[in-house]
Amino acid sequence: MVSKNVQDLMEKMTIQEKIGQLIQLSADFFQGDNVAITGPLKEAHLGEAALYSAGSVLGISGAQTVRKVQKNYLKHSRLGIPLLFMADVVHGYKTIFPIPLALGASFDPQVMKTASATAAKESAAGGVHVTFAPMVDLVRDPRWGRVMESTGEDPYLNSVMAKAAVTGFQGTLPLDQNHIAACVKHFAAYGAPEAGREYNTVDISEWRFREQYLSAYAAAIEAQALLVMTSFNTLFGVPATVNQHLMRDILRDELQFHGVLISDWDAIGEIIHHGVAGDLQHAADLALKAGVDIDMMSFAYAKYLAKAASLDPQIEQLINESAQRILILKEQLGLFTDPYRGLSTERETEATLTTENLDAAQAAAEQSMVLLKNSHHTLPLNTATAISLVGPVADTGDILGSWSWQGDPDQTETIADALAKQFSNFTVMPGTQYHHVQFSKLNDAVNASRQQETIVAVLGLPASESGEATSMTDITLPAEQLTLLRGLAQLNKPLVTIVITGRPLDLTEVDALSDAVLLAWFPGSRGGAAIANVLSGRVDPSGRLPMTFPRNIGQVPIYYNAYNTGRPISGTPADDENKYLSKYIDVANSPLYPFGFGLSYGDFTITDWTLSQHNVTPDQPLTIQATIHNSADHAGTTVVQLYTHQQVGETVQPVKQLQAFKKVSLGADQTQTITLTVPYDQLSTIHSDLHRSTDQGDYTVMLGFDSTCTASQPFTVAHQ
Ligand code: GLC
Repeated sequence: MVSKNVQDLMEKMTIQEKIGQLIQLSADFFQGDNVAITGPLKEAHLGEAALYSAGSVLGISGAQTVRKVQKNYLKHSRLGIPLLFMADVVHGYKTIFPIPLALGASFDPQVMKTASATAAKESAAGGVHVTFAPMVDLVRDPRWGRVMESTGEDPYLNSVMAKAAVTGFQGTLPLDQNHIAACVKHFAAYGAPEAGREYNTVDISEWRFREQYLSAYAAAIEAQALLVMTSFNTLFGVPATVNQHLMRDILRDELQFHGVLISDWDAIGEIIHHGVAGDLQHAADLALKAGVDIDMMSFAYAKYLAKAASLDPQIEQLINESAQRILILKEQLGLFTDPYRGLSTERETEATLTTENLDAAQAAAEQSMVLLKNSHHTLPLNTATAISLVGPVADTGDILGSWSWQGDPDQTETIADALAKQFSNFTVMPGTQYHHVQFSKLNDAVNASRQQETIVAVLGLPASESGEATSMTDITLPAEQLTLLRGLAQLNKPLVTIVITGRPLDLTEVDALSDAVLLAWFPGSRGGAAIANVLSGRVDPSGRLPMTFPRNIGQVPIYYNAYNTGRPISGTPADDENKYLSKYIDVANSPLYPFGFGLSYGDFTITDWTLSQHNVTPDQPLTIQATIHNSADHAGTTVVQLYTHQQVGETVQPVKQLQAFKKVSLGADQTQTITLTVPYDQLSTIHSDLHRSTDQGDYTVMLGFDSTCTASQPFTVAHQ
């Protein structure tokens, strides 16, 4: 339903003013006093009119700044249509939460929702209206640096987290002033670039796209995400940004998305490089016809739509449709009522970096860390233990991760400083930098460790080597850090290695050298305190892997919900007798650490589990009751995971597919019974005609604590 206000504006607006709404400019166009004459406008060969008719800006925040820019903008706006402020608020605004891949590892949608809601409240107080998040691209290749922005390799986990993120950012519609519009990205399948190389070709079948990649976008749109962002990559042979099948047939018609579709940065201009547009005018035409409402920074719309509209009524109609969607979004944000959305420096100060927000970030970090190894119960450590803290990430604030825009590493407590609050006897020496080493300093660190009981090495990568445009061919830790670790391991003392990373790494040697391995991701503003609590046992690490960790890069892509092939291995010694199987001759098929894996300080078993009935129908979901026991002498947390397998399908079916999970915390020697349900529709799969439906037949349900679980029971599915 289009409001009278929007209808009236549409009637009054000139075609140029409507085109202006379709243009997004970056912050530098609006900051400084005389940008209109010199600087970026001049470089872009745009006039002042383009500046004050542009519908939105990206990358500006701060109550005072936004007020100033908006006030000046409105002075130049004939019809008083407010400017829309968008930004990348991905895993926090000033209070930085763990990276989204870590939030996925929490296996708790409430953690994601809290992170997004906190980011919304802080950034709304900073004048942000729209965030370019959540990124829900399914990822299977750690060579691609943007896996840190995703919640991992699984369609179901990603869908659950996508919904939680959108709900956190937006709250319940209509948007209140503590919430912001979510822009789900990148549509679509940006997470599948060949060879993990950034911006590279994506060439997957539409069957695979629908079977594995589409569901998280669909979940975000079902959760009423108000915007979608196009992706840089090609899909089905056509660049996504101008792909009418993808944007009109699938996004608009099938997923019923009626919100604003924005291009990624200069993605319209890049259609020329893709070789699908001969020039920028052609690119503008193709993008508008694909339904792209906002052109982020290619200037194609600014330069060519007015002329195109004068020649072709269809173009004018499309411009009207896009302009109207943008005005509706501004209305949903309440901008016509209050273009400042209650902005004030007092509110901004009160809303940001509060103890409540920081505590929430710490809790999220504590819930997302993954204990990958813990031989001889090395962890937790007694706080009286004499510790040698070593490594390039031991005493730095560079633990916020990529896309932490307003976060300040210099104001972030280091792991060393956080440990000092709990452990009374420890030394700290970097030993090496990320990629450089002075052997005298390395030897100093090793020698200092001789005097201590336990060594805690904090290794990993800087945030600058994670996120966009950081594809890597070698996912082992830098040689300098492995040299340090080898030196420490030779001391034959308990060795705990903490890994700070935004992607799965090849930790094969780290695992072999360490008694305990704790994956801390980029843990955010309170990551140090969270790590200290896990090391001291105040908190039980309860993260589980949202993405498979390979033995080496040669196994990639490797993911748990793979297909059986015609020559599967059996996982028994018989495999060694038969070379003609789907395997390698140099490395096992299994990963170093599988999807869903993680250890706990507790000792959990599933003592009993039953199906409420063995026949699933549209009216009868698969329902499992399971009794979980913690036999340890202290509390702990685990994640019970339910997988299914369809024995026979019209197309191949994954050997197992995650369908439900539940985080369970139990005291020492405590037992709890939980219920997990899987609706009939959730068992649906994509058929060769590309339609999704649930097959009748025999299925298996598996229950356990990670994707290698084998305990199974049969069930059947019938259409009634
Ligand atoms: C970048 C990213 C996108 C981001 C946008 C605005 O190139 O691909 O995720 O939201 O530009 O910063």
